[in-house]
Amino acid sequence: TKHLLGIKDITTDDINLIFETADNFKEVINRPIKKVPSLRDITIANIFFENSTRTKLSFELAEKRLSADVVNFSSSNSSVKKGETLIDTVNNILSMKVDMVVMRHSSPGAPHFLSRNIKANIVNAGDGTHEHPTQALLDAFSIREKLGDVAGKKVAIIGDILHSRVALSNIFCLQKLGAEVMVCGPTTLLPKYISSLGVKVEHDVNKALQWCDVANILRIQLERQQIKYFPSLREYSLYYGVNKKMLDGLDKEIVVMHPGPINRGVELNSDVADSEHSIILNQVENGVAIRMAVLYLLAGVR
Ligand code: CP
Repeated sequence: TKHLLGIKDITTDDINLIFETADNFKEVINRPIKKVPSLRDITIANIFFENSTRTKLSFELAEKRLSADVVNFSSSNSSVKKGETLIDTVNNILSMKVDMVVMRHSSPGAPHFLSRNIKANIVNAGDGTHEHPTQALLDAFSIREKLGDVAGKKVAIIGDILHSRVALSNIFCLQKLGAEVMVCGPTTLLPKYISSLGVKVEHDVNKALQWCDVANILRIQLERQQIKYFPSLREYSLYYGVNKKMLDGLDKEIVVMHPGPINRGVELNSDVADSEHSIILNQVENGVAIRMAVLYLLAGVR
């Protein structure tokens, strides 16, 4: 494939190839000289129409460690504010001899639309409530690193599933790798089609924690809520917030993940986020190697 638009479109073999390539790059970026010349003839534009800390910096570092030339675009201080369209914006950027585009956009399907209208490799860095493929890859890679394998593991995704692109990409990725997936949250934060995805559904967070080997805790995405959803943040944290006492009550150790940014004290307490259960910063570290692998493999297809 010429693009990475979603995990839905790629195979288990593709995912395993990305992981094997990321294993090599992880070793490279832990050396004193973190850089390889692989993409030195490639220019990449990171085009962000939505805020980001981790994904944006992680892609930029991945590109720089592959020796690509990099330009960064944020819609908030661009001519999008003067009414320029998405295709005009991207085609103008491509006229400056850009080969690959990494794009985050608030509209589901925006990178797919772009892929049909421009001549460049496109990597989806998150499209609204739809997919966030590199996040799912780095999440599964981090489970593989921590537990040895993803196949056969029980992963509970807990939180605002309805508005989460991380949840959808994680479900596709984990299932392709042979994990069992459960989603847990209040009914108002689960999409109506959820059972058609072949996941278990649980509303009791303590039962979800008891069931799983890995809990991936998600943020309540207030910015995507069209109407005021039940529960409120205070109610959510009371009924679904994960804290140390809940983990201490389990008869086993579980791994805790979060894609970030964390709303501390809402979906996750600091006594868990900063504990030995958490692999949250390992996820961020692995994001660079995963993105290097994705860009390297796509450049090879060019
Ligand atoms: N996990 C993630 O996508 O974080 P950012 O929104 O900061 O990129």
